[in-house]
Amino acid sequence: MLRKLNNIIVIIFVVLSALILQFGKTFKVEAMILGVGLIAVIAVNHYFVKAHEKELQEKLEEVERKSKKKDTESEDKMAQIIASIPSALVYINQRGEFDVSNKKFNSILNVEALNVYDSRIDTNFRQMLLDAFLNEKQFIRQEVFDDVNYQVLSIPMLKKGRYNGCMIILQDITRLLEGEKMQKQFIANASHELKTPIASIKGMSEVLNRSDFDDEETSKEFLARIQIESARLEQIVEDLLLQSKLMENKLHLEKTEFNLRQFFEGLIYEKRRELHMANIEVILNCPSDVMIVGDHFRLSQVFINLFNNAINYAANESIKIDCNISRKNWNIRFCDTGAGIDESVIPHIFERFYRADAARERYSGSTGLGLAISKAIIEAHGGHIQVESELGKGTCFEVQLDPSETLH
Ligand SMILES: Nc1ncnc2c1ncn2[C@@H]1O[C@H](COP(=O)(O)OP(=O)(O)O)[C@@H](O)[C@H]1O
Ligand SMILES: [Mg+2]
Repeated sequence: MLRKLNNIIVIIFVVLSALILQFGKTFKVEAMILGVGLIAVIAVNHYFVKAHEKELQEKLEEVERKSKKKDTESEDKMAQIIASIPSALVYINQRGEFDVSNKKFNSILNVEALNVYDSRIDTNFRQMLLDAFLNEKQFIRQEVFDDVNYQVLSIPMLKKGRYNGCMIILQDITRLLEGEKMQKQFIANASHELKTPIASIKGMSEVLNRSDFDDEETSKEFLARIQIESARLEQIVEDLLLQSKLMENKLHLEKTEFNLRQFFEGLIYEKRRELHMANIEVILNCPSDVMIVGDHFRLSQVFINLFNNAINYAANESIKIDCNISRKNWNIRFCDTGAGIDESVIPHIFERFYRADAARERYSGSTGLGLAISKAIIEAHGGHIQVESELGKGTCFEVQLDPSETLH
């Protein structure tokens, strides 16, 4: 605004100056005044131009300051992003130096090396870095460094069409591979478990179907065995389905409040025939007024499995169930006085499909899934299950439930 006014005044005085030159002789005094005015205007004008230049300079400096601040801010953000990437990441510049890297990468590198040529770097790791840096080609491959499986991705970087180093990302895929291995093993084991009853049902039904077959006694026996084998098949399929639900964490618990003593009395009643046949007495040490919260059906699966195991493997005389209930802890001990479990076997009994060889011989209905399922059900309730056993003396399973966890 001021500058505009100034320009107008300048124009007016330029015009007046022209007039002075023209009529200076006639109007001497006026001409002098105009002359002084002209000089004053030139001085003011000069002052305005200088002030404007200063203002401009300041504005420029301000813009520069702001852009510098922005630069450092975006650098900080970049560093934060790189640090928070869960995979190891490095940018190797065109001289082979580790220009940008995150903590994960530095921990795999394990030495304070500045470039890919440093001989202190682990040989295999350095070979991979050199391959990525020198070959100037993109690749994805799997590598193992320090017993950890990585998927390595190398991306060449270009600047104005020329190679400008490379970026390497290492993703830890150990758990992914373990999961895949477990799944494959699960399918292999499951198929193996299903094969045996299917083969015997198939064999017996083929015999029964033969046109020249008319042995009534064998026929009756085969039909009874087909029934047992199909029940076993059904059990295996049920266990497998439950196990796969548990593996995917898809088990939905229907929690209710129920009386613990009545719960066990119900299970003992359900198992009464088998217990009687095996001549096993059950001692229930559980107060009659204790209520707990949990999935009644799933928890009964756990204890039915413990009953079945005690009946099938322990060849014992008694089962003792002790309930130890406090406000902070629900503790149930389920002990048999049977054969016990060998020390070397104990660490494996909760594994899927694990069964000791002796168990396989003694009891054909075993899939080795029972305790794995029981453990998963208890853990889904936020609890723990553990075992103590002594060969020749017996086995105790201890189930601990945390009331505060169970209520959720
Ligand atoms: N009370 C027990 N006494 C002796 N051995 C047992 C007992 N409970 C479990 N086991 C052992 O643990 C193994 C795993 O049990 P489990 O997971 O229930 O599978 P399954 O009953 O199908 O064999 C059994 O095969 C058996 O060898
Ligand atoms: Mg079992």
